[in-house]
Amino acid sequence: MLQRLQKIIAAAGYCSRRKAEELISAGLIKVDGRVAVLGDRADPTINHILIDGEPLREAESFVYVLLNKPVGTVTTLNDPEGRPVVTDLIRDLSVRLFPVGRLDINTSGLLLLTNDGSLANQLAHPRHQVDKVYLVRVRGRLGEQAKRQLEKGVLLDDGLTAPARVSDLRIQGTHSWFTLTIHEGRNRQVRRMCEALGHQVSRLARVGYAFLTLNGLAPGQYRLLTKDEIDRLKSLGK
Ligand code: URA
Repeated sequence: MLQRLQKIIAAAGYCSRRKAEELISAGLIKVDGRVAVLGDRADPTINHILIDGEPLREAESFVYVLLNKPVGTVTTLNDPEGRPVVTDLIRDLSVRLFPVGRLDINTSGLLLLTNDGSLANQLAHPRHQVDKVYLVRVRGRLGEQAKRQLEKGVLLDDGLTAPARVSDLRIQGTHSWFTLTIHEGRNRQVRRMCEALGHQVSRLARVGYAFLTLNGLAPGQYRLLTKDEIDRLKSLGK
């Protein structure tokens, strides 16, 4: 079946579609000996595709991992500063996995990783509005007004946040704990939302992603998703 080249490259787990478009624009992709241009289509079962001189490998069987990311690990494949990265924790799978979205170094919790670039891109797309559930501890007492503001939307330097849900609010000494559900995935979004309301986040953990939970996984542990979970994620990404 003819498909856009960037889709083929992303689905084989090389990189995101956007990065694949950059590779095409840079003239690094050849199809049957000819340098491809953006917009070209191909059939990976018929055409011979080279990525920077290397043949496109067969799409590997896809692997989907749910990791409980510990605090102190970076959500990248390689950290120039040499800090521990999330993929160090799943070395024994010996496939190149990409994180679906990211968690800050100081955030722990549920992180999906996969070599199914196509699903990763779909899920990360704002259109799909996948719920992300965070357990948040902030400095100070989160009052009714701040709670309502989180739920209505907070004005950040990249615009107003979409309505969020706050639940299980409890004040503990000089801190407040609550559960925050958002579906956007902006950079440092939860920290920035709370800071904008005068509350610094002192602990942040993602405890849910769509229907998935950490389900007894200790920090640093991971498990493979079941077939049923993979199918449900795919249907969310449609
Ligand atoms: N929001 C944040 O501020 N940080 C994360 O890691 C995830 C969501």
